Amino acid sequence: MKTRKIDTIAADDGKYLFQNYGRLPACFIRGEGSYLFDQDNRRYVDFFAGIAVSSLGHGNSALTRAIHAQADRLLHSSNWFFSREQNEAARHISELAFPGKTLFTNSGTEANEGAIKLARLFGKATSPERYHIIAFTGSFHGRTFGAMSATGQEKTRKGFDPLLPGFIHLPYNDIDSLRKELEGNGNVCAVMTELIQGEGGIKLADKEFIVRAEKLCREHGVLLIIDEVQTGIGRTGKFCVYQHFGIKPDILTFAKGLGGGVPVGALHARAEVAKYFEKGTHGTTFGGNHLACAAAVAVLKTIGKKGFMDQVARKGEYIRSQLVALKEKAPIIREVRGMGLHIGVEIDRPGAELVKKALDAGLVINCTAEKVIRVMPPLTIDMKTIREGMAILSKIFIGEGGGI
Ligand SMILES: Cc1ncc(COP(=O)(O)O)c(C=O)c1O
Repeated sequence: MKTRKIDTIAADDGKYLFQNYGRLPACFIRGEGSYLFDQDNRRYVDFFAGIAVSSLGHGNSALTRAIHAQADRLLHSSNWFFSREQNEAARHISELAFPGKTLFTNSGTEANEGAIKLARLFGKATSPERYHIIAFTGSFHGRTFGAMSATGQEKTRKGFDPLLPGFIHLPYNDIDSLRKELEGNGNVCAVMTELIQGEGGIKLADKEFIVRAEKLCREHGVLLIIDEVQTGIGRTGKFCVYQHFGIKPDILTFAKGLGGGVPVGALHARAEVAKYFEKGTHGTTFGGNHLACAAAVAVLKTIGKKGFMDQVARKGEYIRSQLVALKEKAPIIREVRGMGLHIGVEIDRPGAELVKKALDAGLVINCTAEKVIRVMPPLTIDMKTIREGMAILSKIFIGEGGGI
């Protein structure tokens, strides 16, 4: 029997790579808009965007032009020198979020490491013991030690203890426990949270909770850090998810969609907070190099165009309404949650098999928190491709039967 290309690729993976990822049986070699093509040139609708990374889809001309032009000019010079690309990307972030200062990183976890270190310097400026950071159950902030210690999900932290001290995990959306902690503990320097827990199953913060949490932070002189790594860069129909809640965070962290596929993250803070990173206190070799920031500029310019985010909101609304309507015919669906193109469908059973069935049928989706199917296509996806993906997804949901 002829060996399939995918089997050869999988065998090499087993031979040469760490086996820490549970990979699905496809190897994508090309992308076009919101389609991916595998080793056999089979086409798939992309409802995953590489974990919300490919914000402008695949082969977006503004992005690839910017990357090509920058590659021809200069890839890297280091943070020992000024960078026009960093300046421009940071200016866009200040205009799209709030006026402040930006520090570029290579990933989301590094952006959160930066936020944690900055919060500690801020706290320690008033007292050496003021380094506690409150985070929440169900959260995910990354896999390096600081961000992992902030992460509330036990499965991410398991086996790596001792973790970084100073993190307090409180129940998400429980204002009373937050108030109690802040009133009883004078050593808290920051509260750190996602407003939609992405890896936690697309769980939304209650508006009342976060508005009151912000007020408590102000009263106690504590920083509010919003992790926008998954929700930022237009994913929810606004540049940042916090903008739906009418709050004013002190620090934001970004990554994923920022470079549209080129690895780049960022930490953005009010100037009066950013000043705690004095010269020499923090840094990175690669963070925000010319290539990464040229990509970020192209993404930010596109996202910032008039009407772009409204379209994201409209497309998300369409998908959510279709999924809610589908609930009638597909009892496997328990709940549909999300904002913009950051959507979770909670089902009544583990979703891993369903993800494989979708892949077989030509649709890339993902399952998080065991039972939540995530739909987060490129922000540029068009209605035709949405309908094509939804037709496959609907068939699979209906075909599963289920419910009680
Ligand atoms: C909310 C959030 N924060 C941080 C991270 C970590 O980002 P990275 O994988 O780029 O380190 C993730 C990744 O999924 C995330 O969803």
